[in-house]
Amino acid sequence: MRYVRRLVLRVLSGIQPSGRLHIGNFFGAMRQHLQLQAEHDGFYFIADYHALTSNPAPPDIAKHTLDVAMDYIALGLDTEKTVFWRQSDVPQVTELAWILSCITPMGLLQRCTSYKDKVAQGISPNHGLFAYPVLQAADILIFHSNLVPVGADQKQHIEVTRDIAGYFNNTYGQVLTIPQEHIIESVAVVPGIDGQKMSKSYGNTIEIFEPESSVKKKVMRIVTDSTPVESPKDPEKCNVFALLKLVASPGELKDWENRYRNGGMGYGEAKKRLAELLIDYFKPYRHKRAELEKNHGCIKEILTKGARRAAVVASKTLLDVRKVVGLGDYNNGR
Ligand code: ADP
Ligand code: TRP
Repeated sequence: MRYVRRLVLRVLSGIQPSGRLHIGNFFGAMRQHLQLQAEHDGFYFIADYHALTSNPAPPDIAKHTLDVAMDYIALGLDTEKTVFWRQSDVPQVTELAWILSCITPMGLLQRCTSYKDKVAQGISPNHGLFAYPVLQAADILIFHSNLVPVGADQKQHIEVTRDIAGYFNNTYGQVLTIPQEHIIESVAVVPGIDGQKMSKSYGNTIEIFEPESSVKKKVMRIVTDSTPVESPKDPEKCNVFALLKLVASPGELKDWENRYRNGGMGYGEAKKRLAELLIDYFKPYRHKRAELEKNHGCIKEILTKGARRAAVVASKTLLDVRKVVGLGDYNNGR
């Protein structure tokens, strides 16, 4: 018998607890996380330190952290195999973030578009928001991650992480693992109901587990152009079609594409079908989600256990980093 050795990679990703998770999060990132966990060494966390950068109301962080955890678990996260924790339960990352800050050129951060985008949205331009990519780099590097599956909007942050790891290793020796990035190109950016990127902070989301009646209402509100029913339409310019691509079978999608191009189809018809498909897609997970809602204690326990597993890896890397930068291998006061 021939044995083929599988390459097992450390796959890490984080998601901010800034609101209920939406279908952009799912198709842009979570679906890949769930697929990769079977074959690889999954490390997934809820990025609550990052969420602080937009100054949420304190009770909201705790509530959204539990919501994100329940959404993930309901959708199939294997909490026995995959390490799943809350970022702030492993505070070693903040120490690494500081050390990395000291070798990160200002220009690298000034080029980051997400800071400018968030300030343009009205988030106060605080230092945490500016330094956000350094904390994200620390998240990735402290666990020696090989693969970081994220949506297309996060590509720049992964490049910054690779740059920071490169500066660090060039300065202090090969201590940090430089990650590859992992972006599923077929799912670029999922549009929200207003046609901008779907995002919790833009109020334009369709949540994975919102009531079915509300999914229908939101889908009917998706912004389309004013091409009359009888005229041909360009599917590639339509927000409804962009979402149909995520949930319709290839055959059905081809039919819709033809109907768009031939004319004689109203957007209302496509929206109705989209709502049905979205509801069907997530239906199998609704029961589990409702069950989890009844037992928050169990969710907290899962996150605590995950944090303990994550901390073992994080502490080891931090010790290696402290040694090479000259801070020593002892931790006074801890
Ligand atoms: P949000 O913008 O809603 O706050 P996050 O920034 O927490 O979402 O993103 C969590 C993950 O979901 C990231 O990997 C991100 O790339 C992905 N993601 C978020 N919104 C979208 C979208 N509209 N399309 C594709 N991926 C997305
Ligand atoms: N910045 C990511 C987002 O908004 C969340 C995140 C924080 C993350 N740390 C990370 C993603 C580390 C991947 C790896 O989606």
